[in-house]
Amino acid sequence: MINLTAGPAGVGVRPLRIVLPGGSGQVGQALARHLQQQGHHVTVLTRGPYTAPWQTVHWDGLSEGPWTETLEGADVCINLAGRSVNCRYTADNRADIYESRIGTTRLLNRVIGGLAEPPRVWLNASTATIYRHATDRAMDEATGELGGYELISNRRHAPETWNFSIQVAKDWEGEFFGTQTPRTRKVALRSAITFSPVPGNAFHIMVNLVRFSLGGKQGNGRQFVSWIHEADFCRAIEFLMDHDELEGAVNMAAPNPLPNREFMEALRDAWGMPNGFPTPAFLIELGAFFMRTESELVLKSRRVVPGRLLEAGFEFEFPTWPEAAEDLVRQWKSRD
Ligand SMILES: NC(=O)c1ccc[n+]([C@@H]2O[C@H](COP(=O)([O-])OP(=O)(O)OC[C@H]3O[C@@H](n4cnc5c(N)ncnc54)[C@H](OP(=O)(O)O)[C@@H]3O)[C@@H](O)[C@H]2O)c1
Repeated sequence: MINLTAGPAGVGVRPLRIVLPGGSGQVGQALARHLQQQGHHVTVLTRGPYTAPWQTVHWDGLSEGPWTETLEGADVCINLAGRSVNCRYTADNRADIYESRIGTTRLLNRVIGGLAEPPRVWLNASTATIYRHATDRAMDEATGELGGYELISNRRHAPETWNFSIQVAKDWEGEFFGTQTPRTRKVALRSAITFSPVPGNAFHIMVNLVRFSLGGKQGNGRQFVSWIHEADFCRAIEFLMDHDELEGAVNMAAPNPLPNREFMEALRDAWGMPNGFPTPAFLIELGAFFMRTESELVLKSRRVVPGRLLEAGFEFEFPTWPEAAEDLVRQWKSRD
């Protein structure tokens, strides 16, 4: 293990140069803030304009340009670029979802492969959605089954939109690992939904449902929810930066996914809301249509566990949802 981290306020070894392509989004902002607080030098690559307390550099995500200099001699690259999946999967949106992930990864492979001093570590976004719809058992990296056209009940196969997401994830990782970068260790971040107490985040949507008495189970409530607290996401990223033995796909999810019914109940408890109306699947489909999003985000059962992180000794600050929900609600309410 090589200690790459600088420690709070720059105490310890030297600050790192960390480049975040696509780091202007929800996860990227939290991560950039955290890494900067740890004393590192953070650069976000953005199609901009975007102002932030850290360095921002323009790129178009399509072609090489002056931005490539930010990666020369950098310590770490964390690529988070990708068009939001919170949209209807129209043909145009599908093309954007696909190309913004696979295309940017291809571009970075080309650029990093040609550098004199490439980053020692490259963490590339992926998604926990890559696993099949699972209610029967947990999916870790070693024994988890990747999804695609699986049976989700006695008679029904996974909807085509779910298969699309899985295919994107497979091709994304395929593009990432398809090019050898002998001087750069690669980790694909199979992330579950990352909850942050900020407007616009998925947590905001969940909290609004609870506040407006719609915080009951969604669908049949038996589908599992995989999640990770923003604080643990950031800590796990640092852990991955430090641990040279970790390469390949790593699940970024709290160790205790839980059925949607229990997930919503714990959130209601944390908010102090005794009841909430359930939302049946057909209403979720309808609501998703009018909100221009996809029901997959709620109805697919994601039972993903962080096998490799736990095995390597990572300790979650928020391993269980009730405690995580309480902390997120406390932070949310203290913002008002
Ligand atoms: N949030 C989660 O819970 C979660 C869970 C699993 C996986 N992930 C993955 O993690 C990554 C980051 O998530 P996030 O929630 O931070 O996403 P986000 O808020 O949507 O931000 C992603 C960033 O990607 C950039 N981007 C969008 N379209 C692009 C394009 N066509 N070409 C190049 N860059 C483009 C945007 O930056 P600019 O506009 O500044 O260029 C945007 O800020 C995504 O790839 C996502 O799929 C997230």
